Amino acid sequence: MSHNQQDDQRSHEVPSTGIASGVQLNHTVVCAKDRQVSAEFIALVLGLEISAPFGPFLPIDLGNGVTLDYYQLSDQPIQPQHYAFLVPDDQFDTMIARLEALRVTYYADPAHTDPGHVNRLFGGRGAYFADPDGHNMEILTRPYIRS
Ligand SMILES: [Fe+2]
Repeated sequence: MSHNQQDDQRSHEVPSTGIASGVQLNHTVVCAKDRQVSAEFIALVLGLEISAPFGPFLPIDLGNGVTLDYYQLSDQPIQPQHYAFLVPDDQFDTMIARLEALRVTYYADPAHTDPGHVNRLFGGRGAYFADPDGHNMEILTRPYIRS
């Protein structure tokens, strides 16, 4: 059986009921060389609290029901990911000030070519910065307009 035949057969076995509703992101794993260091970093920048450890995970609950589960991978390279946080406009300046106090460079762009500036996309403000593991973190006050 070829790949195409397998794919075709599988597609017939999966019930399709149209577009799902009520599906929400509940949690995601954030890999870190040191889960405590990385969780403390983003909790400090965003003004959040770290919850009690849950097995191998160090959770940070966001305000929308999503949990970041920091997971330690101390013996292998961390694959950088992108995490974007929609933040209240009145907290944006404080977060930038925390980055400056931590001497963490922020950038207006995701490629980190415009240091020390914030962007004004979609009528809001945004900035990018690297966490201790090189994850590309973003804070933005207005969500992307994708249409
Ligand atoms: Fe983004």
